[in-house]
Amino acid sequence: MSKIESNFYKAAAKYWATIPATIDGVLGGFGHISNADIKGSKAFIEDLFAQGKGTAKTRALDCGAGIGRVSTQLLMPIFEKVDLVEQDTKFALSAKAEFGDDNPKLGKIYVEGVQNFKPEHQYDLVWCQWITGHLKDYDLIDFLKILKGALTANGVIVIKDNVTSEKTIEYDEEDSSVTRPLLLFETIFKEAKLKVISQRIQDEFPQEIHPVFMFALAPSE
Ligand SMILES: C[S@@+](CC[C@H](N)C(=O)[O-])C[C@H]1O[C@@H](n2cnc3c(N)ncnc32)[C@H](O)[C@@H]1O
Repeated sequence: MSKIESNFYKAAAKYWATIPATIDGVLGGFGHISNADIKGSKAFIEDLFAQGKGTAKTRALDCGAGIGRVSTQLLMPIFEKVDLVEQDTKFALSAKAEFGDDNPKLGKIYVEGVQNFKPEHQYDLVWCQWITGHLKDYDLIDFLKILKGALTANGVIVIKDNVTSEKTIEYDEEDSSVTRPLLLFETIFKEAKLKVISQRIQDEFPQEIHPVFMFALAPSE
């Protein structure tokens, strides 16, 4: 990894270390959109199931899981086990507490950067929400290839993230993240040999934020 790339990751870790372990914290002051977000994600998953995609419900993985908002509200009610990857220790501890003591649905919490994550299990669903912007393009391609190798036969990766309507990538210095245009997402998916099997824009979100897309991805070969 080059020096610039490693600074990109260090700056993000430093930023998140200053943020409180609350829904408002992990959603950058937009905690009030959480309910609409979870509702939109549920409808997207239900639609995938209705199409016969990603239908097994054994194990899911939540990447960049924060305080376990998505894990506990979306994934836990559906899957037998949920694993999480989250690099910030206080968020990981908060996620563990959200699941509650000895909750059999909690698998393992990997407290590490997603760019270093090596899966130990196979997953029916991998959920990546508001995390892809924290990866450099080539690391995101490698990460997606690794996730693809950890999918069960009918497994699916879902990316839910901001998409800019500008033609070029936008860099946010505050949290050291990027927002990509749709075309770049499509190029990255292609490079990772993944195809989009379903795509939707989240509704009921405020006008002033970037459009948030959900992409369901499956191996293209
Ligand atoms: C915007 S929050 C989203 C949290 C969660 N996905 C949600 O929707 O509630 C981004 C999260 O990604 C985590 N994060 C940032 N860079 C990361 C990295 N390289 N590896 C793992 N987690 C990272 C942050 O600590 C933070 O918890």
